[in-house]
Amino acid sequence: MKEFESYLSAHLPQVASFHPHYDDAIAEMLLAGGKRFRPALLLAVVKAHNSLLIPSAYAAAYAIELLHTYSLIHDDLPCMDNADLRRGKQTLHIKYDEVTAVLVGDALNTYAFEVLSESAFSNEVKVKLIRSLAKNGGLGGMVLGQAIDCHFENQALSIENVRILHINKTAKLIASALEMGAIISGQESLAKDLYEFGIKLGLLFQVQDDILDVTQSSEQAGKTTQNDGDKNSFVKLLGLDGTIKEADNLAKELNEQLNTFDTKLYNELSPILSKYLARHK
Ligand code: IPE
Ligand code: IPE
Ligand code: MG
Ligand code: MG
Ligand code: MG
Repeated sequence: MKEFESYLSAHLPQVASFHPHYDDAIAEMLLAGGKRFRPALLLAVVKAHNSLLIPSAYAAAYAIELLHTYSLIHDDLPCMDNADLRRGKQTLHIKYDEVTAVLVGDALNTYAFEVLSESAFSNEVKVKLIRSLAKNGGLGGMVLGQAIDCHFENQALSIENVRILHINKTAKLIASALEMGAIISGQESLAKDLYEFGIKLGLLFQVQDDILDVTQSSEQAGKTTQNDGDKNSFVKLLGLDGTIKEADNLAKELNEQLNTFDTKLYNELSPILSKYLARHK
């Protein structure tokens, strides 16, 4: 992922306005790191099926990371999760002010689509990529999930609805990363299978994130933890042991599904997923 980091640093949005900290605030959370899980998934699919397209695919990997980073900045706002640490740094509303955090989020969200529109793909592919990112990261995807997450604080949802919440707020964007990889590499028949795999993977990802909230310190996680007390987290509903069992079951199903992918795809995805799927190794 070194090349991706270089691509990101070289393509930071910079408008050089007379605003005293606009550019710095925009770059800050992007440069603070993070696991780059979604870009890695997208690039793995492209590498497996059409590695010549990797240089062009960085733009799409960057776009999904831009949208994801915006979602984190807004997630931490006082009106949402009210968190002061993210990616090992002070959140933007603490370091600067709330209006900066809101607007940096808005800017990264829209910039994601600017980057996709300027990518090197055909117009047809670009429209498909834009649609996948918008559908899964927006109205009926991540934003809906966040709306449910915040609206139902301190009101217990059924486990089925918590699954729907987690699928929307987290899994759809992860599924989109895999789908976008398939669109770029021209493997549209695979896009559907990868999307379904991504939904389950994203659910596991959020279940594990709910576990981290209760098992890790903020220092260890690099973000505010012990913060889900009002939320419909899996741990709240199933307890820690029940949640660990849920994660183990999802990991088992995902391992089985991963084994059905062709060798090249298996070889590219396995190292990225091993941390999540090999839960007891
Ligand atoms: C955090 O996402 C928010 C969730 C969807 C759980 P990540 O765990 O991918 O955060 P970064 O990108 O590594 O900071
Ligand atoms: C947020 O889930 C998912 C997003 C859409 C950003 P969380 O609120 O659990 O994410 P963290 O734990 O703050 O990273
Ligand atoms: Mg949240
Ligand atoms: Mg949060
Ligand atoms: Mg969390």
